Amino acid sequence: MTKKMSGGKMRELTAEQIQKNYDTLINTIQLYVTGDRKDKVLKMYEDMKDRFMMAPASAKEHYHNAMLGGYVDHINRVVDFSLKVKELWEQGNCKMDFTDEELVFSAIHHDLGKVGDLENDYYIPQDNEWRRKNMGEIFTHNPKCEYMSVTDRAFFLLQHYNIPITKKEFIGIRLTDGMYEEANKSYLIAYKSEFQLRSTIQYILHQADMMAAQIEGRLTKESNEKDETEVQERIKNIKEVVGNYEGTSTEKPKITNDLFEELFGEKR
Ligand SMILES: [Fe+2]
Repeated sequence: MTKKMSGGKMRELTAEQIQKNYDTLINTIQLYVTGDRKDKVLKMYEDMKDRFMMAPASAKEHYHNAMLGGYVDHINRVVDFSLKVKELWEQGNCKMDFTDEELVFSAIHHDLGKVGDLENDYYIPQDNEWRRKNMGEIFTHNPKCEYMSVTDRAFFLLQHYNIPITKKEFIGIRLTDGMYEEANKSYLIAYKSEFQLRSTIQYILHQADMMAAQIEGRLTKESNEKDETEVQERIKNIKEVVGNYEGTSTEKPKITNDLFEELFGEKR
């Protein structure tokens, strides 16, 4: 199991959660994707099932969901938030000009390129201990995976599986990162009225994605802070035991199973 610098456990998903998240994603596809492309989408997931299931959503601890299964966990959250954000826009009297299928399909595939290309994972575990500890790089980019932007790789994979997409899905997937992606500027800042984006789909996806990523980042931070508190508590307990020994006894402190666990983080 991977340890953090502090000695605590990193935020991670259990095997059951990873499986459950994947099942949820497949159910979402079953529910929302229609027509001829449904089988093609399911085939893509079946072909790369293990990689979909295990992929992280980012490489660095302080980004979002840099953990095994983090990708699907993120995608499910973005799907959920997209539908909720859409409702909020509707409550503000904005008429939606796209279907739920287009919205959900785009949400599901906005980060598809993070799964990697046809042969290789995009993220692999960082084996440089210094970079893990000091830069929070839990994963690193796989040098075997030829460079493409994550969004370009998403389109590459979709076309490889002959999965057609609508124009709104293209715009939605293309612009989910909003202005965080330099290349999106020409779409999002229009100097001519005829160049203004017609749909609201990309704004809704961006809001959902940003909210999901921010929440995931905060969940990791909270988990790390909790671990840190636990580590401090363990150190305090050990100091107390050693302190008691030094102050009161000439005998060596008895290393009980509990103390052994405190000292070494495992049972003997
Ligand atoms: Fe995302």
